[in-house]
Amino acid sequence: MNWRYGEREAWRFLACAPTAVLPGNPNRLIVSHVLNPYRRLTRRWQPGKSRAATTDLLATAVMSNKNSTVLVTGAAGYIGAHVTLALLDRGSRVVALDDLSHGFRELVPADAVFIQGNYGDKDALRRAFAHGPNAVVHTGASISVPESMHLPADYYWNNMARTLPLLHACLRGDVRKFVFSSSSAVYGDQGNLALSESISPAPASPYGASKAMAERVLRDIDAATTLRCVSLRYFNVAGADPAQRAGDLKSGGGGLFKTVLQCAAGTRDVVHVCGTDYPTPDGSALRDYVHVCDVADANIAALDFDGGAGEVFNVGRGAPVSVREVIAAVGHASGQTIKTIDQPRRPGDVPCSFASMTKTRRELGFTPRHTDLQSIAADALRWERRLSGMQNN
Ligand SMILES: NC(=O)c1ccc[n+]([C@@H]2O[C@H](COP(=O)([O-])OP(=O)(O)OC[C@H]3O[C@@H](n4cnc5c(N)ncnc54)[C@H](O)[C@@H]3O)[C@@H](O)[C@H]2O)c1
Repeated sequence: MNWRYGEREAWRFLACAPTAVLPGNPNRLIVSHVLNPYRRLTRRWQPGKSRAATTDLLATAVMSNKNSTVLVTGAAGYIGAHVTLALLDRGSRVVALDDLSHGFRELVPADAVFIQGNYGDKDALRRAFAHGPNAVVHTGASISVPESMHLPADYYWNNMARTLPLLHACLRGDVRKFVFSSSSAVYGDQGNLALSESISPAPASPYGASKAMAERVLRDIDAATTLRCVSLRYFNVAGADPAQRAGDLKSGGGGLFKTVLQCAAGTRDVVHVCGTDYPTPDGSALRDYVHVCDVADANIAALDFDGGAGEVFNVGRGAPVSVREVIAAVGHASGQTIKTIDQPRRPGDVPCSFASMTKTRRELGFTPRHTDLQSIAADALRWERRLSGMQNN
């Protein structure tokens, strides 16, 4: 059977069929039932100006197959667990890779294949890639801005250097899509304006710099190879799966929202407000909180995205709220007054950080479903209360 090159629907069909594709006449593709499809086509075929278009179509075709296999690194972490659930919910197979340095085995759903190991380690990668993933969602990382100020080498090592063996494994295998969990920390202090992707990164911490470096590597790899890469710059992630299948299990260091929730759930006494003299309406820092399920959905949208090269997208709500407003929202949801202590600013923290979501809406076609802080607070509070109940029993 012959199809003319560029017939997208034919590619979509191919993604669902257990067939293979061989390069033939430069304008035609010949379908056979013998050989591995995607790899052979992109490695051997030299269509000149159409290479990028070819691999975009392939990437789209691979991911539009809901039965694709996705490797999720950091899957036992807060965001990785929600991404895993979203992928399983839509019928994908998930290989969950986590070294459990900060993750929890119990957050990985039973339907995922779990591999305990490091994404920078050859043996762990060999075990993970034996399952034949055609896409990778890379959420694994060290994630604390203050810690990165004290341990910069560890952060560059885990977030940047260890991502390279993972990328090599992708390039050796049949992976067509790589979605990277980047961070709004790449922007640094840009003043009180909505941060758009066109702003040059100016990270204020080794954590942010490690993410900016990884983004750069992904852009170069996207330009030079058949691996299509998308970086998602999350803002402040909060909330929990509304069905309470996952949430943030960390007991410490989970950021402001987590700390406030722990106070509301009775597992902590007081919230430290770090920085009360920022040039903001109430003196506390402004941040953009986005529901963790919206972050998971943004990853799905990025897997399905078929435009651009090495694109970067913000993932936030696009609405700045102050530290004091977060405390008030959780206090309201819980019916309690949250005790606070004012403290000096922390090194590496910026006064204001919120997303412009224009490009994400227009090009990725993604808009967060949870638009108000109260719904984020309510889901997170239910999770935190269950957790404190378990801890107290
Ligand atoms: N939580 C947020 O608000 C936020 C904001 C911006 C960006 N991000 C990014 O989102 C991603 C996920 O963050 P999270 O909040 O779920 O963090 P998390 O700490 O809950 O999850 C990270 C997971 O990665 C695992 N991990 C770390 N290094 C590893 C390695 N070398 N090999 C295998 N597993 C490893 C940890 O064990 C952990 O389970 C990170 O890349 C983070 O930088 C998070």
